Amino acid sequence: MKAAVLNAFGEPLAIQTLPDPTPGAGSVVVDVAAAGVTSYAANVFNGSRSYRLELPAAPGPGCIGRVREAGPDATQLKAGDWVFCEPTIRSRDEPSDTILQGWTYRTDAALPLHRLYHHGAYAEQMLAATENITRLGDIDPADAGRWCALSRLLVPYGGLLAGDLRAGETVLVSGATGGFGGAGVAVALAMGAAKVVASGRNERTLDDLVRRLGPRVRAVAMTGVEADDRRRILEAAAGRIDLVLDFLPREASAAQVQAAILAVGQGGRIVLMGGVRSDLALNYNVLMHREITLRGAWMYPRDAIPRMVRMVRAGLIDLAHFELTEFPMDQANAAVAHAAANAGPRQLTVLRPDRGATG
Ligand SMILES: NC(=O)c1ccc[n+]([C@@H]2O[C@H](COP(=O)([O-])OP(=O)(O)OC[C@H]3O[C@@H](n4cnc5c(N)ncnc54)[C@H](OP(=O)(O)O)[C@@H]3O)[C@@H](O)[C@H]2O)c1
Repeated sequence: MKAAVLNAFGEPLAIQTLPDPTPGAGSVVVDVAAAGVTSYAANVFNGSRSYRLELPAAPGPGCIGRVREAGPDATQLKAGDWVFCEPTIRSRDEPSDTILQGWTYRTDAALPLHRLYHHGAYAEQMLAATENITRLGDIDPADAGRWCALSRLLVPYGGLLAGDLRAGETVLVSGATGGFGGAGVAVALAMGAAKVVASGRNERTLDDLVRRLGPRVRAVAMTGVEADDRRRILEAAAGRIDLVLDFLPREASAAQVQAAILAVGQGGRIVLMGGVRSDLALNYNVLMHREITLRGAWMYPRDAIPRMVRMVRAGLIDLAHFELTEFPMDQANAAVAHAAANAGPRQLTVLRPDRGATG
């Protein structure tokens, strides 16, 4: 099979021939149709993110594809089924040992998993763990790229499930102008939030969120002054905030985080999902008297995947909101550069290994 291979950090991806994978017990081989390219893929590939990834490898976390051959223990999957391949693989003897297939292994203990499921989705075929496969039902092959949005939507869905969002509640999404935050606004609406306060600094992107997602979204521009920003958030909410979903990135300051999370109301929940590195100064008395629950969340539970597929099928989430740009496999490096230059809540950059693997 042809694959876009990273041979060394800092080198471009090279189209090379790799051996075809073969399924065993517990695995499935998928013909990859479409694979998402994240905005920070360039930083993973140039080594600046210091991801644990043994090279050479065909990277690519997750895909949309069709079952080519299922292992002998699969009871339902059939050749030709359209599927979503989830990249998080958990060790069967210790579920906290995880890898993101084709992306990184999180601890040394997870290295055997990384070596077994070594290559990711930037390849014509991919070996996937059977339990990581979710059937989509019939889709138009032309829509395979758009279905890659599942990966974007599932991450905030995991946070909103962790925060126990209920219909009729008010949610604040902090970092709503980013890729995962913007998706979080759409998912919170789909789950029945009465209001979603969307905060960020980029006013154009905030306006676009309101225009696309409707009047339940209340956009609020952040200034960087903690007390002012908290006041603006509360004014936009015009009532109590039940749940805060924070997606601020590594570069954001503690004051930016605090402005948002401390706007939560009595009995509220705060879910931290971003990449912030600084320590927070939390007001003990406020947390105690308001009976606030603060938790982190990483990714999403497995049963979130078929639920999200059903939400899309039911029209609660409209994949047409994503602005899709697709690249054939032999333009993998152009795809990575495009994704880096076009980060944002609407943008979806997708590699199509089913097209143009000519190198
Ligand atoms: N927990 C998980 O399972 C999980 C999964 C995936 C990703 N993540 C993390 O989620 C975070 C967000 O990812 P993303 O892909 O959505 O990022 P992104 O698209 O780059 O968005 C980040 C947003 O943060 C805002 N921002 C606020 N303060 C900033 C500052 N000081 N510098 C730069 N940007 C700032 C920017 O919007 P404005 O300019 O409008 O403020 C930007 O749109 C990352 O840290 C990522 O590692 C977590």
